[in-house]
Amino acid sequence: MALDPSTLAVSLGRGDRGPGSPMDVPPVLSSTFVAGGQYVYGRDGNPTWEPFEEVVGALEGGAAVAFASGLAAISAVIESLPAGAVVVLPAGAYTGTRRLVADVATRGRVTGRLVDLTDTAATLAAVEGAALLWLESPSNPLLEIADVPALAEGAKERGALVAMDNTFSTPLLQRPLDLGVQVVVHSATKLLSGHSDVVMGVAVARDEALVQSLRSRRSLHGGIPGPVETFLALRGLRTLPIRLERAQATAADLARRLAGHAKVEKVRYPGFATVVSFDVEGGAASADAVCAAVRLIVPATSLGGVETMVERRGKVAGEEHLPPGLIRMSVGLEHADDLWADLEQALGR
Ligand SMILES: Cc1ncc(COP(=O)(O)O)c(C=O)c1O
Repeated sequence: MALDPSTLAVSLGRGDRGPGSPMDVPPVLSSTFVAGGQYVYGRDGNPTWEPFEEVVGALEGGAAVAFASGLAAISAVIESLPAGAVVVLPAGAYTGTRRLVADVATRGRVTGRLVDLTDTAATLAAVEGAALLWLESPSNPLLEIADVPALAEGAKERGALVAMDNTFSTPLLQRPLDLGVQVVVHSATKLLSGHSDVVMGVAVARDEALVQSLRSRRSLHGGIPGPVETFLALRGLRTLPIRLERAQATAADLARRLAGHAKVEKVRYPGFATVVSFDVEGGAASADAVCAAVRLIVPATSLGGVETMVERRGKVAGEEHLPPGLIRMSVGLEHADDLWADLEQALGR
């Protein structure tokens, strides 16, 4: 019987369920293990990782490898490429991904080609001769949508590996491996853990050689998650389906209300997920004033937590090309009416 994702999130990753066993696998705070068993040294394996990986893997439909951060997971994919490989990535990708590829390109490890992912034909033309196509849809923070199945198929025909950042959608809204993507990554810092108390990442793949390569990169480069972080991330993951449902409904409601506000020039919301970006009249100064005026909503740079957060993204290093008045809002679990009252008073100043 195929179980619903909400059931998988709760029931998997429990370890031994024998009488007297703990309900949750406790964080194993050990750097080294007595020789001769499954676990040897904490950089290569920790029993706390597997329950988290089991749940994420089941939700995404592959084998998951937990990392210290989203960027550690992204780095593991990039570092698995041969020297001189061409990486095609969206010009609108998360700034950290672009900066990482630019950094390794500066040292001659790879060559980056920036594309407009919403232009499928141009993206596939750029994939000729490339080793990797990097996808992010919806993108952060413009929330642009790419034709993922067409891009994945076209890239595969051209012999490129296809990886996708699924942080904004989570596997509950989009399962990239079912759409032809070979590696999925997440900043588990965001919706997967969901409480703004953990920095963590995860990569998921079906191909055994790819999974082994990701595990090797984790051990070799040392981008391992701590046991306490992994425990907390799994605890947050248990409630992802219900958090997502609530935050998504509120995000849609706020997007609709913002679209009718006189000071809002444009609302960017793809109709799903929990981030709404909107452009306010008056550019950077006006957007900064809104972010400074919120009382309930938190001015902060992350997303995917239980608390609603706003940030003017154009002020972030590397994001100066964005519309100056664009505010990215990550919608949390507060009541929609309370959030709207706060937005109205902040926009009204
Ligand atoms: C879409 C996306 N991918 C990756 C990352 C990087 O994740 P982390 O901060 O966990 O390294 C972020 C962080 O903001 C993100 O928004």
